[in-house]
Amino acid sequence: MDRVNATTPSASSADDPARAAFAALRTPEGEQLLAELRDHDPADELATATRLRRTHPAELVSAALGQARLRQRAVAKFGAEDAYRMYFTPNGVEQATRTSVAAHRSARFAGLGVRSVADLCCGIGGDAIALARAGISVLAVDRDPLTAEVARANAEALGLGELIEVRCADVTEIDTAPYDAVFVDPARRGPRGGAARSASGRGGGRATGGRIFDPEAYSPPLSWATAAALKAPRAALKIAPGIPHEAIGPEAEAEWISDGGDVKEAVLWYGEGFAPGAFRATLLPSGATLSAPAPLPAPPVGPVGRYLYEPDGAVIRAHLVADLVERCRGRLVDETIAYITSDEPYSSPYVAGYEITDELPFSMKRLKALLRERRVGVLTVKKRGSAVEPEELRRRMKLSGPNAATVFLTRVAGAPTMLIGHPLG
Ligand SMILES: C[S@@+](CC[C@H](N)C(=O)[O-])C[C@H]1O[C@@H](n2cnc3c(N)ncnc32)[C@H](O)[C@@H]1O
Repeated sequence: MDRVNATTPSASSADDPARAAFAALRTPEGEQLLAELRDHDPADELATATRLRRTHPAELVSAALGQARLRQRAVAKFGAEDAYRMYFTPNGVEQATRTSVAAHRSARFAGLGVRSVADLCCGIGGDAIALARAGISVLAVDRDPLTAEVARANAEALGLGELIEVRCADVTEIDTAPYDAVFVDPARRGPRGGAARSASGRGGGRATGGRIFDPEAYSPPLSWATAAALKAPRAALKIAPGIPHEAIGPEAEAEWISDGGDVKEAVLWYGEGFAPGAFRATLLPSGATLSAPAPLPAPPVGPVGRYLYEPDGAVIRAHLVADLVERCRGRLVDETIAYITSDEPYSSPYVAGYEITDELPFSMKRLKALLRERRVGVLTVKKRGSAVEPEELRRRMKLSGPNAATVFLTRVAGAPTMLIGHPLG
């Protein structure tokens, strides 16, 4: 693979204020400012800016403060050690894949012997970095000149420059034939205006563009990405977890990934080593993974038993609840609600289990009386199929006492119901 970063963006950074500001940040003076701002308190930003402007150009100070803000935001995705060595744009940090998910995906590719990947739509490099750390050579492509520069800077900052070649180009112009696999992470947000491009971080918190739900409105569209995937020996497409299942072709294995219980994304896998037509749920950080050929038959529905199980969101999105119902020899409490109930205790990484002590028709008054009688001061509210706001409910309960309880607001056989219980140890 050609390691020279051959593609030169159409205009030089001198013509583009955002790129000029980014270039200034990478000078020794810019780096020194960034290092100084590492632990600064955002609440003191005005005083910090005033102090720094006495000894540094105002534009550089504002770019450094913006970048410091972005690094702080990026810690949740990349961890502090990487985030404070990396560079971001507002869109870049928001759209980047978190390290845990990118590493999981890279490990699946590496486990199948993939040695080189064309990362089409690389953004600031979240996936490219994880692929390189799995020992894979990466061609990382993004058409936005600033974003491509930031990706290149990140590869260098993390010592991965030898494995990542960044190219500023439209992905539709890339010949992917030399690569073992293709990865596409299309842009899924509408434009946010000029500030969104800036590496100074201004405007990042105030989105004017919204998420794009129509897969054909992705850039590039899902149909283009699918065609690119089918041409390659192996491929992965990152898609929104809410993608309608009908939009998933029979050639793909679809995987929903949660991290710490929150569904983060879905990915479509193509090629040898994957299971076309199968739906998979993977839970991070454990890596527990459940898969079945889709679709599964509808699970049985029946009365609430002694135990209630709340499946992980990835299992629900992957329509694998029926598989868990079978494993725990249980049933659903309602055909439209993903709460499983059984009469025997069951333990699995894919569900949170509760012992149910009370089942009542929905009534704020009755719940308040019961919680008072049980001296419940801490109430966890879970809900599925109920419009009640948990905060409002907690406020109205006027909780007091040394005990804790969990209430499920849901429907049982179509009727609004409250189930009260506590988590299984
Ligand atoms: C969701 S982000 C990629 C995030 C990346 N995977 C990461 O983890 O950092 C999508 C990127 O696609 C780029 N993009 C959109 N359409 C493109 C096209 N036709 N050619 C090249 N890049 C494109 C955007 O500039 C944006 O940076």
